[in-house]
Amino acid sequence: MFSTKRLVSYAVLFMALLVVIAACAAPAAPAPAPAATAAPQAAAQKTYKDMTLCYPQLGAESDWRTANTASIKETAAKLGIKQLVFSDAQQKQENQISAMRACIQQGVDVIALPPVVEDGWEAVLTEAKNAKIPVIIVDRSVSADPSLYAAHIGSDMALEGKRAAAEMNKLLNNQGAILELSGTTGSGAAVGRAKGFREDLNSNIKILDSQTGNFTRAEAKPVMEAFLKKYKPGTDFQGIFIHNDDMGIGAIEALKAAGVKPGEIKIVSVDGTRGGFQAMIDGWFQADVECNPLLGPQVFEMALKLMNGQPVDKNVLTNETVYYPDKAQELLPTRQY
Ligand code: AHR
Repeated sequence: MFSTKRLVSYAVLFMALLVVIAACAAPAAPAPAPAATAAPQAAAQKTYKDMTLCYPQLGAESDWRTANTASIKETAAKLGIKQLVFSDAQQKQENQISAMRACIQQGVDVIALPPVVEDGWEAVLTEAKNAKIPVIIVDRSVSADPSLYAAHIGSDMALEGKRAAAEMNKLLNNQGAILELSGTTGSGAAVGRAKGFREDLNSNIKILDSQTGNFTRAEAKPVMEAFLKKYKPGTDFQGIFIHNDDMGIGAIEALKAAGVKPGEIKIVSVDGTRGGFQAMIDGWFQADVECNPLLGPQVFEMALKLMNGQPVDKNVLTNETVYYPDKAQELLPTRQY
């Protein structure tokens, strides 16, 4: 018969066998239930391919504007955005407002607005804000409350005016009289340049007259012709401050027709277009204050940040300089506009 010791060993073995069989037969442990408080999934970042951007361009009044339009269109194509809704308001604020309203209706992602004038934007900016469409003010400024738009990208127009005054002070040795051919009345560019210019112009230089040429060659020429009927070049005035190169080119046509020779009247212009560089080479402009229209890359970069709810700088100013005749010939081939 079995010894007690052997019986105990058999019993232990039998028990172990039972444990193994029970373990194999047990149902699989249920998968852990998802945690009731799982972290919310981060919203997918939007890309340029998701972007519909509205650009109600103010017009096509100057070479500067043509370059600005090209910069926006070329950048949109290069980045491969979903849609660029572009329109030309022909220098009329009501056209820009209608274009903005159509964009709000369409539900675009971002509106980038180059405003023709400073005032009168409150209503449409409020409509965009209520529709949760961020607006970037591009180029010129608006007088509306900054809470109504996301940011501004463009030039410091008052600084441009101050730079022009510094050049005029040097050219006239801080004395004499000048004329001013101003930009579009009520535009941020004209208001800012006129203000900065007056702040820094030497008090011994008198502004004899100031008229608008609406930033165009066609409108500036008759204004200059009218000036020349009223004031004798060299005697009544020695200099002209002109708010953009296109108006400068229109003014040159009138000056030439009146028998004025390049350099007899000191001209300070603004923009730094190829036309302005040629006017410096030809001896008509003695300085050209830069205003850079190539804003496309900055506009789209900011628009993407806004689409993704990221913070942006409220006022992004363009870095600019002053150009002179001595480098004009060398720099002309490098000019992009
Ligand atoms: O707002 C920028 C100004 O507008 C440029 O100086 C001028 O050429 C354009 O028409």
